[in-house]
Amino acid sequence: MEEKSCPVCDDLGWVLKENGVERCTCQYSDITENIFQRMNIPKRYRNKELSNFTPDDKAGHRLVLLRIEDYINSDRFKEGKGLFLVGPPGVGKTHLAVSILKEFFRRRGIVGLFYDTRSLLFKLKASFDGSASAREILEETVETPLLVLDDLGSERLSDWARDILHYIIINRYNELKPIIITSNVELKSRKIEGDVLENTLEERMGQAIASRLSEICEIIPVKGKDKRSSGLIAEEVGNEKGNR
Ligand SMILES: Nc1ncnc2c1ncn2[C@@H]1O[C@H](COP(=O)(O)OP(=O)(O)OP(=O)(O)O)[C@@H](O)[C@H]1O
Ligand SMILES: [Mg+2]
Repeated sequence: MEEKSCPVCDDLGWVLKENGVERCTCQYSDITENIFQRMNIPKRYRNKELSNFTPDDKAGHRLVLLRIEDYINSDRFKEGKGLFLVGPPGVGKTHLAVSILKEFFRRRGIVGLFYDTRSLLFKLKASFDGSASAREILEETVETPLLVLDDLGSERLSDWARDILHYIIINRYNELKPIIITSNVELKSRKIEGDVLENTLEERMGQAIASRLSEICEIIPVKGKDKRSSGLIAEEVGNEKGNR
């Protein structure tokens, strides 16, 4: 059985009091290891925060951070609204997506779930021969109050992979459950200087998914320099303990 690190709140971060819900004292020492594992946040990204995302004014990062703050502080997620962070590699999309998950936990006590999309599909495929674990993983991705699908649409998908993502996205859409997506490809094709964009999510995953995602996700373009190649990455591994 999974060991709880806070016996007061069972690692929920919140406790029920007479006047409503209150933040548990364990939260003042920030997010526990156990919560990181439940949210499936990779070690490399555990110390990423909105506060240590250094905005590049030329790339419009201040507006990106404002839009993200506005989303976290609003109740739009309750109506199933999510975000679609789109931009080139290394500009901080995964950093921001993880920070959003962490803030939802801190401010609202919501334990979301992070998945790199390709790893999720691989994990499901590896355990799909009738075992219960694939079903459990799939149900978890449909049920979680906040799902991050990292790096969606990074490659052409097999029919099987498309069906799985279809299942997850359509079910969350129907149940008004929000999805935070990061992607290198635009959601829908649009004309840029006369040329029609290829390699869109619409083209890779089909119109049914792209149309639903464009309805439920606010698109936030993230621009800037590739921080990986510019060697500007600050200390990454802040937490060496356990991973899922
Ligand atoms: N503005 C920024 N401030 C601080 N760190 C940043 C910033 N942008 C990127 N980084 C860091 O650069 C690294 C790469 O960022 P990240 O993995 O979030 O990129 P990405 O946009 O998700 O790329 P990909 O599309 O390849 O997945 C991370 O360590 C991240 O914390
Ligand atoms: Mg990424």
